[in-house]
Amino acid sequence: MTATHTTNPAQDFVDREPAHQITWVDPVTGAHGYLVVHTLVGGIATGGTRMRPGCTISEVGDLARGMATKTAAFGLPVGGAKGGVDFDPKDPRAFGVLTRFFTEMRPWLDGRWVTAEDLGVTQQLIDDVFAEVGLSQSFHAAISRSPQPEETLARVQAGLEVMTDDGYPLGDVIGGYGVAEACLGAAEGFGWAIPETTIAIQGVGTMGGGAAWYLHEAGARVTAVADARGTLCDPAGLDVPALLDLRDEYGEIDRTRVPAHVQQLPREAIVGIAADIFVPAAVSYAIREDNVDAVAARVVVEAANAATTWGAEDALVARGVVVVPDFIANAGAAAWAWWLLQGQVGCDPQDSFDRLSAEMRAKVAVLAERWICDRIPMRQSGFALASSNLHALEGAQIVIP
Ligand SMILES: NC(=O)c1ccc[n+]([C@@H]2O[C@H](COP(=O)([O-])OP(=O)(O)OC[C@H]3O[C@@H](n4cnc5c(N)ncnc54)[C@H](O)[C@@H]3O)[C@@H](O)[C@H]2O)c1
Repeated sequence: MTATHTTNPAQDFVDREPAHQITWVDPVTGAHGYLVVHTLVGGIATGGTRMRPGCTISEVGDLARGMATKTAAFGLPVGGAKGGVDFDPKDPRAFGVLTRFFTEMRPWLDGRWVTAEDLGVTQQLIDDVFAEVGLSQSFHAAISRSPQPEETLARVQAGLEVMTDDGYPLGDVIGGYGVAEACLGAAEGFGWAIPETTIAIQGVGTMGGGAAWYLHEAGARVTAVADARGTLCDPAGLDVPALLDLRDEYGEIDRTRVPAHVQQLPREAIVGIAADIFVPAAVSYAIREDNVDAVAARVVVEAANAATTWGAEDALVARGVVVVPDFIANAGAAAWAWWLLQGQVGCDPQDSFDRLSAEMRAKVAVLAERWICDRIPMRQSGFALASSNLHALEGAQIVIP
């Protein structure tokens, strides 16, 4: 890790005012929409757009800051942003609201902001609204910088359609794969044998389900998983592929088909499962001051954004429990999208898995070493890495072949 440019590297992210904040009011419904651009690198930023009733500019700002930290931690030549609309995505007027929001944001979408799906907004909806407003694709702002935009668009679209050997779209599983690699990297850093490493995972959707799959495949023992309905536990190790097959579209496991020997516990029980690693992969603030004492894991790997409150993390660190921060552990999908854009990975899924594995493991190894040698919390070392990268990227221009 190289020297940082500020006395407290977290200042580059936590205390820094966003570069731009835009509030929009829909003239038809009165809904409020927000775009927060936390940092621009080479004049461009990336971050999804969410829609939910009650969405605020401060929530969008927090998420934009998270994106900025992720892109910097992975040395990506792009800043962090987020869009948000305070509206019910199930309301039949939602398409119109999003169309008007993106029309108003068009100067940003044309050249400076790459957006994607997020809570309440599917990629299909984004694509449909982009078609409506006359933008080719949600990577438009980046692809328009390519000398051959049409060839680049075809290349990126081919990459987005790649399937894994197991039959899943690569883009759906790469984030969970990154979380699994963060877990395996932590186990390696602490010298634990993988077959003896036990893991509990909260959430079995895109992130938690993907992490469970790849951890099981690597030979680790996933002893408990939780969904919105409750916790399932087997200290001998769950049959992960069989359980994932029982999920519905909301990531909930059909309890009528769960084997009888699997214990069924309350939803919150997952936090207190005695496993080496706990992966919160569902909701923000899963570990809080009021439940932190229940945490029985030795390492927490944050797949969900802001999975641990800062007060709870202080309490964990004081007990010697390490937290691999969200902006490292869950950055796989964001990093992969940017590698794809830059032509650094292509249509062979193994190249993407190898690249993410190498980058994630190298980062977690550095963080683990700083913890083991100097008791520096991983979030602090992660901020130092991100800050150092951000300063190194000053003046960088993205090159899209
Ligand atoms: N999908 C991504 O690419 C991505 C990338 C980075 C971060 N994240 C973050 O990861 C988290 C999960 O995202 P996802 O896309 O996997 O969601 P998802 O909707 O695919 O899955 C959510 C899972 O969590 C479960 N769940 C919901 N509430 C729960 C609760 N209170 N207790 C236990 N389980 C509960 C659901 O049953 C489901 O299994 C979110 O915080 C998201 O912001 C997602």
